[in-house]
Amino acid sequence: MIPPSFVEQLLARVDIVDVIERYVPLKKGGANYLACCPFHNEKSPSFTVSPSKQFYHCFGCGAHGTAIGFLMEYGGTSFRDTVKELASQVGMQMPDEERFDHAAHAHGQSLIEVMATAARFYRSQLKTAPAAIEYLKKRGLTGEIAARFGIGYAGEDWQSLRNAFPGHYDDAALIEAGLVIQNDAGRRYDRFRERITFPILDQRGNVIGFGGRIIGAGEPKYLNSPETPLFEKGRELYGLWQARQAIRESSTVVVVEGYMDVVALAQFGFGAAVATLGTATTPTHIQKLFRQAERIVFCFDGDTAGRKAARRALDASLEQLSDDKTVRFLFLPPEHDPDSYVRENGLEAFRRAVEDAMPLTEFLMRELRQDNDLTTAEGRARLVHVAKDFVPRVAAPVLRLQLIRALAEDSGLPEGQIETALGLKTASGKPRKAAPRQAPRTGPVSPLRQLLRVLAAYPNLCGHVPFEVALALEDSPEKSALLALLDAFDDGALEARSLAMFYERFRDTPVEAVFGDLLSALENNHYTEDTATTVLSDLLLKHRLHTVETRIAELNQRMASRGPNPEELQQLQTLLKEKQKLKSGQAD
Ligand code: UTP
Ligand code: MN
Repeated sequence: MIPPSFVEQLLARVDIVDVIERYVPLKKGGANYLACCPFHNEKSPSFTVSPSKQFYHCFGCGAHGTAIGFLMEYGGTSFRDTVKELASQVGMQMPDEERFDHAAHAHGQSLIEVMATAARFYRSQLKTAPAAIEYLKKRGLTGEIAARFGIGYAGEDWQSLRNAFPGHYDDAALIEAGLVIQNDAGRRYDRFRERITFPILDQRGNVIGFGGRIIGAGEPKYLNSPETPLFEKGRELYGLWQARQAIRESSTVVVVEGYMDVVALAQFGFGAAVATLGTATTPTHIQKLFRQAERIVFCFDGDTAGRKAARRALDASLEQLSDDKTVRFLFLPPEHDPDSYVRENGLEAFRRAVEDAMPLTEFLMRELRQDNDLTTAEGRARLVHVAKDFVPRVAAPVLRLQLIRALAEDSGLPEGQIETALGLKTASGKPRKAAPRQAPRTGPVSPLRQLLRVLAAYPNLCGHVPFEVALALEDSPEKSALLALLDAFDDGALEARSLAMFYERFRDTPVEAVFGDLLSALENNHYTEDTATTVLSDLLLKHRLHTVETRIAELNQRMASRGPNPEELQQLQTLLKEKQKLKSGQAD
């Protein structure tokens, strides 16, 4: 693996403005540079590059990152390749990764490295497995597509990964990565055997899991990686990495059910497809997709299972919709899945089917109607009643209105009465506020995040935050971020570009998002130093007050159970006094 210190040296050497300017024409606008965002379609520029912070941020689509992140996103290259390329451009010698890895082995290998090694190994194995190659050919795949998806083969040997990890097969990391299984007798063996392997990539192009398909008949047909620290099925989508460019071009993404569906669609020239990984669609999936696409089309088989899956996808979507982020449903004929459909009918037919997919409102209304007999008054009343579970969750005003209109038509009630019945309006006719969207970016800011934002804007204020206060916090990504800031401040090393460096240092950990948020927030709102100081002292005061109140409650409880003793009474009195002082301090 590339040592993190090397990445920081590299970032210190390059200028993000130079890097981005090579691909996107930048215009100076105040302290920053501006451009139309290369990552989504727009006519007026909302993409900013900050030379002081060495970070880019798009107000339109939320894309953000360092010079390295930009090149990865723009060129679709992996982290390692990007760092290598950038290093060679500025004449930096790449460090000896193997030596670094060797040293790192002592502390357990990084799971990402383990997965990358396994993926390389499986790919190399495919070349020596004629039966597997034959199978892929029979399914119509070219070598080019197989390479694009990193498809490989796990042989029949029970411990073939020994060859991929000489001397390290017994490392705990292989079990933690889900590649090796240990049975009750303590014997270890490869999870994937005699299977075609489909690597699952995260949004940076790292391998985080595998799907393995048996050749020919057998059970289970697909074997997937278990959930690991890297791999959470409810968050990941197969093929998203490869589909990014195609999604950007059409603003549309098609969600299918299977690995082979994604690969076959790509083979036929439809690149914008992704698959859920043998799980139902989650709101997280949808949030992730809406960050890149305006339209999501769920493509399901036309059978009962497909309809059930569609209802779950509908359920996961409702809160995520806005009037310019839409969801549609495409039901294929019962005998088809996307793979067989595109094979039989061709690319154009599939494209047309995607275009003509059923709007979410129509699907929802169809489902509601299906369950209720609209020829009876009871059925119509029930329709409105059942709609209560769905319609109020739609925050998008136009979509919601469409639904209300459709309900009014079906039930024969006026729209106003429908709104009242759905609890969207009080009887006096005042509209109720829409359910808040679950987009993480609009969520409330916790006091700790607020503190971090203040410190990010005015690093000098770090001096006012006692280290013990930070250490005493409950473990969280925010706490790690705060400690990193305070640490750098103590070393006198905190500067404008530090945040971008931390962002890279914490790549692939939850702390990364905290720094992403801080850097984005810096572009969005500008505290004056006065406001920042006030916010900071207020937060510290609140924190102190909370500590004191907890201590008081503890003392009270102890005295109630054991009876008071003079020392504790004394303590309590001091604490109460402090509480009062803190409270009056807070008031002014
Ligand atoms: P399908 O059975 O529809 O597979 O399962 P498919 O994609 O059409 O496979 P081919 O065409 O026969 O090769 C759809 C998805 O459900 C999950 C996999 O993610 C698969 O792609 N699945 C299916 C499993 O996880 N395990 C299984 O045993 C079967
Ligand atoms: Mn299939």
